[in-house]
Amino acid sequence: MSDSPDHSRFYITTPIYYVNDSPHIGHTYTTVAVDCIARYQRLLGRDVVFLTGTDEHGAKVARSAAARNVTPQQHVDENSRAYQDLWKVMHISEHAFIRTTDSYHVRTVQDVWRALVASDDIYRSEYEGWYCVPDETYLREADLKDGKCPDCGRPVEQVTQPAYFFRTSKYADRLAAYIQQHPEFIQPESRRNEVLSLIGQGLRDACVSRAKAEWDIPAPDDESQSVYVWFDALINYLSYQRHTGLDIWPPDVQLMGKDILPRFHATLWPSILFALDLPLPKTIFAHGWWMSDSGDKISKSRGNKIELPHVAHKLAEVSGADFDIAIDAVRYFLFREVSFGLDGAFSFDALLGRFNADLANDLGNLLNRTLPLIQRYFDGEVPQPGPGAGELREAIDTARSAVEAAMAEFEFRRALEAIWELISAGNHFIDKREPWALFKAGKSVELGTVLYDVLDCVRVVAIAISPFMPEVAAEIRRQMGLGDLPVTWDDVCAGEFPEGRRIGEPKPMFPRVDLARLKAKLKAEEQKTATAESPKKAPTATADTITYDDFQKVQLKSGRVLSAEPVEGANKLLKLSVDVGEERPRQIVAGIAEVFKPEDLVGRNVVVVANLAPATIRGVESQGMLLAAGEKTPEALVTFDRDCSPGTKVR
Ligand code: MSP
Repeated sequence: MSDSPDHSRFYITTPIYYVNDSPHIGHTYTTVAVDCIARYQRLLGRDVVFLTGTDEHGAKVARSAAARNVTPQQHVDENSRAYQDLWKVMHISEHAFIRTTDSYHVRTVQDVWRALVASDDIYRSEYEGWYCVPDETYLREADLKDGKCPDCGRPVEQVTQPAYFFRTSKYADRLAAYIQQHPEFIQPESRRNEVLSLIGQGLRDACVSRAKAEWDIPAPDDESQSVYVWFDALINYLSYQRHTGLDIWPPDVQLMGKDILPRFHATLWPSILFALDLPLPKTIFAHGWWMSDSGDKISKSRGNKIELPHVAHKLAEVSGADFDIAIDAVRYFLFREVSFGLDGAFSFDALLGRFNADLANDLGNLLNRTLPLIQRYFDGEVPQPGPGAGELREAIDTARSAVEAAMAEFEFRRALEAIWELISAGNHFIDKREPWALFKAGKSVELGTVLYDVLDCVRVVAIAISPFMPEVAAEIRRQMGLGDLPVTWDDVCAGEFPEGRRIGEPKPMFPRVDLARLKAKLKAEEQKTATAESPKKAPTATADTITYDDFQKVQLKSGRVLSAEPVEGANKLLKLSVDVGEERPRQIVAGIAEVFKPEDLVGRNVVVVANLAPATIRGVESQGMLLAAGEKTPEALVTFDRDCSPGTKVR
């Protein structure tokens, strides 16, 4: 048995995401990982505070808003919404959402700033270095690309400007000693070594202000300066605690990608906390990066962004699984395919392979050979265990300890492997005990015992996978007739199935993908699009008037753009994911790439023709059309004069 449940608070955070970028696999990975930990800790009985949010200040944000002809506030509101919407789609559990434009956060940043100026940890001096005037960005020599700004490619200037600095150097020795004494502080170990070597090279004081700009937090008591966005962003973890007054400091786990660990979270952030005399987070964990299929870095400019709701949509389409089950399958894949902490290349084929082998075969078989048999042989009533029951208990105990050990070390892949060993044990047990043969032989007590044991194993599997695949777990429990009962990790050990329970209606969840058929279909589609012209244009109407009934045939709906990306090899097309208030977002291909950048569309409230027959455009299915004004090239999107929830009819 595990120790008695620990009801204490558990505070876990994701980084806060830049609103200028539309969410992709990288952001989603960090948040889903935190969600898995949060869900597991809740199972253990901890009172979890899960904080995520958006990073909304900076010159780039103001510029993007101006380019779209909207206010910065409107821009950040829409883009922050895109993240919040995505978390719902990805089954992210209860969480708090902070925005750096929230007034309580702005107040905390300024309070912290003042306190650090008072303690002389922040001091005024001069910044000497490279500066990109149009981008309002300070750059180090190493940041320059061919001597120019890495972002916009324009020439940079050598400047000397007044600026504020934080005394990172003052805390370098203390920080190095702390890291040595607390091996759990920076994980995994490879990252710890990287940070120690960075500190060993000497930490320079960090420049924490910029020349005053419109869309930044003003530096207190100095009208010429703004707070540097990274200083602003790091304080969010503290703002939330101060705002709520919850007794949650220090955070138990702060999770992020490896890119933002060394300079920001593992040196600047703990030094600020030292200066504020606050305890450091217990653990900062950095995960690896997802690369594209070809091993390239995923980036906006390469146009190779991977958006997981799209991936799930495609998986649901080719397998016939429910969209929510497909989302969970994608969540599973992220943590089963690559060890947490290492980099990985995302491939749809690998996802299909895992879906077929691990979900359709292993887990699907276990379910399909348990629940329907209870339905068939016991009319749906859970049989009671007879003599010799509990044959799978050892496998359950082994899995339980392995999962506990793996989760404590962020070894999600190992945890899933341990659960899959239990699933295999269940499947082997069925093979060996052949319930169908027991039925034929009329051995009903033995049959009941065998099925009871397997059902109990399924019950444990559903608990153990629930942090990773919450909807799958809930569906299994519903099918087992246990949907109404609360679950804790200790239930894994209980080994009891409530007496007199009836199972629900068994329904296969993971239809196997016929890979050979799929390949043939894709090939045929490819050939068709290679020879086909672009989609046929609607004939120009010569008779101008239509009847009301004619007009009524067109279903127009309000939609919200969740994501947008270029269509490979078609410079006029964008592939959009649009929420039109249906179970799944629609994929819409629109010929607006020459006029709109993908990132400018995310969060926009658009008008969608919802009952247009689907068409395949350049090999990509389009399930509707956006309304836009303009003759040959679109000039303006049709939008709403106020926010209108997705799915609302336009008439
Ligand atoms: N706003 C800052 C964080 C401030 S926290 C005080 C930021 N935002 S971000 O939107 O660029 O990135 C947030 C997270 O996404 C980071 O954890 C980053 O590592 C992760 N990823 C972005 N692209 C990624 C991949 N391709 N793969 C995995 N994660 C990566 O940085």
